[in-house]
Amino acid sequence: MRLKPVSVVSFLVLLLFHFFAGGDGHFIYNGFAGARLDLDGMTVVEPDGKLALTNITSQLKGSAFHPTPLRFHETNGTVARSFSTTFVFAIVTDLVTVGGNGLAFFVAPTKNLSMASPSQFLGLFNPQNNGNASNHVFAVELDTILNPEFRDISSNHVGVDVNGLASVVAEPAGYYDDDTGDFKNLTLIAGDAMQVWVDYDGRSTVLNVTLAPVEAPRPIKPLISVTVDLSPVLNGTAYVGLSSSTGPFRTRHYVLGWSFALDGAAPPLGYSNLPKPPRIGDSKRRFKARDVILPVATPILALAVVAGVSLVVWRQLRYAELREEWEVEFGPHRLAYKDLYRATGGFDGKHLLGVGGFGRVYKGVLPASKKEVAVKVVVSHDDAKLG
Ligand SMILES: *[C@@H]1O[C@H](CO)[C@@H](O)[C@H](O)[C@H]1NC(C)=O
Ligand SMILES: *[C@@H]1O[C@H](CO)[C@@H](O)[C@H](O)[C@H]1NC(C)=O
Ligand SMILES: *[C@@H]1O[C@H](CO)[C@@H](O)[C@H](O)[C@H]1NC(C)=O
Ligand SMILES: *[C@@H]1O[C@H](CO)[C@@H](O)[C@H](O)[C@H]1NC(C)=O
Ligand SMILES: *[C@@H]1O[C@H](CO)[C@@H](O)[C@H](O)[C@H]1NC(C)=O
Ligand SMILES: *[C@@H]1O[C@H](CO)[C@@H](O)[C@H](O)[C@H]1NC(C)=O
Ligand SMILES: *[C@@H]1O[C@H](CO)[C@@H](O)[C@H](O)[C@H]1NC(C)=O
Repeated sequence: MRLKPVSVVSFLVLLLFHFFAGGDGHFIYNGFAGARLDLDGMTVVEPDGKLALTNITSQLKGSAFHPTPLRFHETNGTVARSFSTTFVFAIVTDLVTVGGNGLAFFVAPTKNLSMASPSQFLGLFNPQNNGNASNHVFAVELDTILNPEFRDISSNHVGVDVNGLASVVAEPAGYYDDDTGDFKNLTLIAGDAMQVWVDYDGRSTVLNVTLAPVEAPRPIKPLISVTVDLSPVLNGTAYVGLSSSTGPFRTRHYVLGWSFALDGAAPPLGYSNLPKPPRIGDSKRRFKARDVILPVATPILALAVVAGVSLVVWRQLRYAELREEWEVEFGPHRLAYKDLYRATGGFDGKHLLGVGGFGRVYKGVLPASKKEVAVKVVVSHDDAKLG
């Protein structure tokens, strides 16, 4: 088949849109198939374009660098430039409740992180250099393990790191709902794709970090908004990258798309072009889940049904009413025993007004109308009527 020139052009445009790395400090990867990234440690690009920062092997690290250094300071050398980045990630664990250690976007003066440690050091620092101002490393961490030595707030947080892992500021993973302003939790290790935005304004030195489920509109209110002057940190040219590491738990850290810009907003990602994270039930997990859930769930379900039916029958018996001839003239005023029961707090002694020859009289408030009533309980067969 011969392609018309116009289709060749649109194909090239598509290709450019899909995958573009500019020389002037901005790039976009909608999937990483064929991406010119420098990969380290156990990081690989999978055939469908997922950037797998880690595989399930314990105590290893992996990272991906944009290959060329970027000039992060103003030409007069004193002020860090504004920058913006966004990426979509998914953390997939073998165990549903634990995974780790997390991943980070970072800016570092070197591509040689061979001295960095895995596990809680996220492949960025080591026990000797952690916290040292000579690192010149800035990072935003998505941390899934609580490390008391770094004063971590939880095992599911987002933190801003300057030269070390004791975050300048950290917040539980989640986002603020645009309509209600309510905080919504997100579980980083849930296996779901989520998007992060990091925006730094060099002039005001305000750094914002925002998190949201993938394809949801970017929340207006950032998760983190902090004043942190990065000028002494990013004081020269530096490399941008993504890093991750594993601890004891079998965890895969994926990045599905990533864009970056200096002095402007990171180009928006093309969601439809992003590779999909593996289903939570890749064959092994689904097998495990079925094995565990079915034998446990079936008897529980049966018990629940029996309990539900018993409850309904019990309520019917408890609130069963006798209908008497005298009631006919009070027809429309008939009240359910249940309502009287509620009105008097279950014929509680506290509501007792008096005890007469026919029985006890209780004070109550009808639940529906909020009307005050006196309820006489007739001794003969414990029926109740309005006094
Ligand atoms: C994980 O990556 C390491 C380092 O590249 C490699 O030796 C190991 O075989 C990988 N494991 C799996 C399960 O792919
Ligand atoms: C350096 O350049 C930036 C932006 O061009 C400017 O805001 C800042 O005032 C300059 N600093 C000095 C010391 O000239
Ligand atoms: C990376 O740094 C380490 C220690 O500083 C050094 O031994 C190693 O040669 C460096 N690797 C490269 C490729 O420069
Ligand atoms: C920080 O790192 C520098 C360079 O490696 C080193 O000379 C210095 O002693 C370190 N400072 C601390 C407090 O460890
Ligand atoms: C969000 O998570 C925190 C910490 O786990 C918990 O205290 C809070 O109740 C959760 N909020 C909602 C709305 O689930
Ligand atoms: C950070 O968020 C605040 C509050 O929403 C906003 O006013 C500011 O413009 C944002 N700054 C950047 C660099 O995105
Ligand atoms: C950045 O600061 C370090 C001191 O921590 C200094 O050695 C280095 O020369 C500075 N780089 C630039 C480009 O000013």
